[in-house]
Amino acid sequence: MRLKDKVAIITGAAQGIGQSCAESFAREGAKIVVADRFSQRGEQVMASIVALGGDATFMEVDVSQPEQVEAMVSQTINHYGKLDVLVSNAGVGGRRFGDGPIHECTIEGWDAIMAVNLRGMFLACKYAIPELLKTRGNIVTVSSILGLVGSQGLYDTHAYMTSKAGIIGLMRTIAAYYAKDGLRANALAPGLVDTQMAKRTKVDKELMEQIEFWQPLGPIGEVRDVAEAAVFLASDEAKFITGVVLPIDGGWSAQ
Ligand SMILES: NC(=O)c1ccc[n+]([C@@H]2O[C@H](COP(=O)([O-])OP(=O)(O)OC[C@H]3O[C@@H](n4cnc5c(N)ncnc54)[C@H](O)[C@@H]3O)[C@@H](O)[C@H]2O)c1
Repeated sequence: MRLKDKVAIITGAAQGIGQSCAESFAREGAKIVVADRFSQRGEQVMASIVALGGDATFMEVDVSQPEQVEAMVSQTINHYGKLDVLVSNAGVGGRRFGDGPIHECTIEGWDAIMAVNLRGMFLACKYAIPELLKTRGNIVTVSSILGLVGSQGLYDTHAYMTSKAGIIGLMRTIAAYYAKDGLRANALAPGLVDTQMAKRTKVDKELMEQIEFWQPLGPIGEVRDVAEAAVFLASDEAKFITGVVLPIDGGWSAQ
């Protein structure tokens, strides 16, 4: 019960890494706001937590829309009375948005990726911080190993990679500025993890061979690998840790 009675908003919690964070946080005693733009799946996640005896509520939100993000935080306060943790996880990626190597990335693709991955993280932090300051709470942002290393040819979605590097800058800025107020911020940098987002890679033989080299502990991570790291960073066990980027990458960044 490392998060007993803590109130946590988890964005992008309707599936994948966010869902696993919601489930792990609930197991540790936290009250969960499952925040996602897809209500059907989000409500299912909420219901499965409640069915196991946890406390969760669903809020439909598009993290790129300021008024929706502001409402997500104020509804959390109305519902639970406080906010202790923000897991800023919602993210999108891929060529279907128009992403690609910089010279091929469309303007629309760049804007679409940034709107969710960077503006969405900024908005979530902007509206959550006043509440987190009241509880000496903390933020866990979900970046990526691709925010730490450059493109090596096989991964060529440069807007995505730039957005993930931007999240690290955002997190460090918050960590440095608000440490005097007792507020912590850290980032997770997952390698390839088995979710919907990894679907294209998993069927690409050439890419999977490369992944096996990059992630010798894997070849591919599980959502719970990320969720358990989020629990640790959000808990009091990490009360002296702020401003760090924790790779969860099966050895990728060690090379
Ligand atoms: N899966 C990986 O290999 C991997 C690796 C590194 C980093 N990440 C990061 O982890 C995070 C979660 O990814 P995932 O793999 O679980 O992906 P996923 O696609 O399975 O889940 C993403 C969730 O975010 C939600 N979402 C997307 N846009 C949103 C918006 N505008 N507003 C609210 N919710 C929105 C989706 O509805 C979905 O539920 C992302 O930030 C992603 O960049 C994933």
